[in-house]
Amino acid sequence: MNVELLIKKALEARKMAYAPYSNFTVGAALLAEDGQIFDGCNIESASFSPTNCAERTALFTAVAKGVKNFTAIAVVGGKAGEIELDYCAPCGVCRQMLAEFCEPEKFKIIIAKSESEYIVKTLEELLPKSFRPERLQK
Ligand code: THU
Repeated sequence: MNVELLIKKALEARKMAYAPYSNFTVGAALLAEDGQIFDGCNIESASFSPTNCAERTALFTAVAKGVKNFTAIAVVGGKAGEIELDYCAPCGVCRQMLAEFCEPEKFKIIIAKSESEYIVKTLEELLPKSFRPERLQK
């Protein structure tokens, strides 16, 4: 896996964020098992609750294209225009949505400040003992 490339794609996607209310822009790049990368940004709404996070934008874009198997996601975020970033971990809703499609012990979440400064966690570390589709099949 080319972590630097994935972070670069997330940084590029962040530039597309529509965040006039929070002024907090986020980018994500989701790596599929077949090597495709789907990126996403946060998209806000004047009525606030329909707002979609960058991670889910990337995930929904991939699923809408028929891709459902993933290896990793890179996430970057910070105040609009801010270049020196702090870590921006995925929100709980995005973690839950990733758990719908990704194997918790294998799927990697790359939380980055830059292409060279990042931390890597598994989905299991960020959302332990998650409620997953299999649970409905027992
Ligand atoms: N946001 C994301 O895009 N991803 C996250 O994981 C955390 C939060 C967005 C949502 C909203 O547009 C802005 O950041 C402030 O919460």
